[in-house]
Amino acid sequence: MQALNPEVLIGENDIALRVEALGKAITQDFAGEEVTVVCILKGAFIFCSDLVRAIDLPVILDFMTVSSYGNSAQSSGQVKIELDLSDSVKGKNVIIVEDIVDTGLTVNTIIKLMRERGAKSVKLASLLHKPQKSQMADKIDYLGFEIEDKFVVGYGLDYAGKYRELSYIGVLNAGI
Ligand code: IMP
Ligand code: MG
Repeated sequence: MQALNPEVLIGENDIALRVEALGKAITQDFAGEEVTVVCILKGAFIFCSDLVRAIDLPVILDFMTVSSYGNSAQSSGQVKIELDLSDSVKGKNVIIVEDIVDTGLTVNTIIKLMRERGAKSVKLASLLHKPQKSQMADKIDYLGFEIEDKFVVGYGLDYAGKYRELSYIGVLNAGI
């Protein structure tokens, strides 16, 4: 099988500038406070690692792995927690960090869960948003880029487990 070369959609420099700006915004919004960054694995791991270094505040970092079941075109799908946080978020300023919001099911479920667990505040940072199918109950507080309804890979995002290591966000034009 011939390797597919994803076409560049958002380049490395554009990502870096945007992530820096999001970090500054978070730093200003939470001045004088501590934030708990909840990185949604695996897709958000690169975005999150750059974002936390752009935040000039005390940061507690924790991880969660979720998987969604059911038809993504329907809002009735289920989100299952595969790996839960290691610490309580009670009384914490939680910032959920996600790679991409598509239907919004994943982040809506996690936002609700963080509220149920007694977080002091819950904010959402997402590198990407595909607004076409989105059923976001809450707005994205810190958004990198809005994109068209295309399947993207790179900078943490995968197709069948591949392409996460790319430094840019690309589109797979052939094969899918
Ligand atoms: P949602 O629950 O429908 O918002 O789906 C969000 C999840 O679907 C993300 O965390 C990704 O894991 C995955 N996803 C959605 N669109 C893409 C894409 O274009 N590339 C890679 N993963 C995607
Ligand atoms: Mg994901």
